[in-house]
Amino acid sequence: MLPQIPGKNYPNEVCLNGEWMQPENARISVFDRGFMLGDALYEVIPFYDGKVFALEEHLDRLKYSLSQIRFDFEVEKLVPYILQAVKRSFFAEEDAAVYLQLSRGTAPRTHFFPKSSEPNFLVYSFPVKLKDFEEKSWRLLLAEDIRWHRCDIKTTSYLANTMLNDESHRLGLDETLLFRDGKITEGSHSTAFFVKENVIYTHPEGPEILSGITRKIVIDLCTELALDIREEAYSLKDFKHLDEVFLTGTTTQVMTISEIFTEKEKIFSRPEAGPITRKLQKAFKEKTRKSQA
Ligand SMILES: Cc1ncc(COP(=O)(O)O)c(C=O)c1O
Repeated sequence: MLPQIPGKNYPNEVCLNGEWMQPENARISVFDRGFMLGDALYEVIPFYDGKVFALEEHLDRLKYSLSQIRFDFEVEKLVPYILQAVKRSFFAEEDAAVYLQLSRGTAPRTHFFPKSSEPNFLVYSFPVKLKDFEEKSWRLLLAEDIRWHRCDIKTTSYLANTMLNDESHRLGLDETLLFRDGKITEGSHSTAFFVKENVIYTHPEGPEILSGITRKIVIDLCTELALDIREEAYSLKDFKHLDEVFLTGTTTQVMTISEIFTEKEKIFSRPEAGPITRKLQKAFKEKTRKSQA
């Protein structure tokens, strides 16, 4: 039997290179560059009540990542499989997400990018609990950002992210908040926002962070709500004056942060979500669930 993780399931069906099959029948070469070198990209696309959300934005980010790694691929070709994935898995009315992975494909192992390789793509859907996210809160570990200098590329090479995330997991915490040169970059799989004296701060786009789709949606919501949002990195030295913290991400949505710890001490505590976090959670919910707005 395959290893199991409580609360996590393998999908019953996956789409490999356009063909639907049971996962145990899905085979790719051991010379796949995603497997050997992490030469692969990914996206996670949410479906609210069975309806895709921000698909264009996810495809645009995939195009950007492709351009950055000099990988020619027509992204539109993936759309039918992304949409089929949810329908085929009986999530047509439910909340779900689609995992999409695209590797440069199979070729003899080289450090340079081969001129001809046949890309491999994988698509599958999984159920995800997107409702009532505002009732939860997360506790964070603060740790030094040890990742590479191209965090803007959404690659499957997430070993540093998983090492960092595992540090908080081992301590019974929910996510790791990262800093570099005295400034917060982001979470190991999320974007970080800080509120101080009614001003909201988040790291500007660039190679230090992944340009989150949810980040962009929340920034737009701040503008619509006439909230003061600044794309400026938040300094560790300003932690003592912090009023609110929240994280964003496709399945994280807009998550209240109740506590932040270093290895030695607690540096932030706010048991209940603050007023700005609440406002944005409500607006985000309305945007993603238009029928409930
Ligand atoms: C490092 C990192 N930052 C931010 C995010 C949030 O991005 P999005 O809102 O597009 O899910 C993710 C999501 O996987 C991530 O891995």
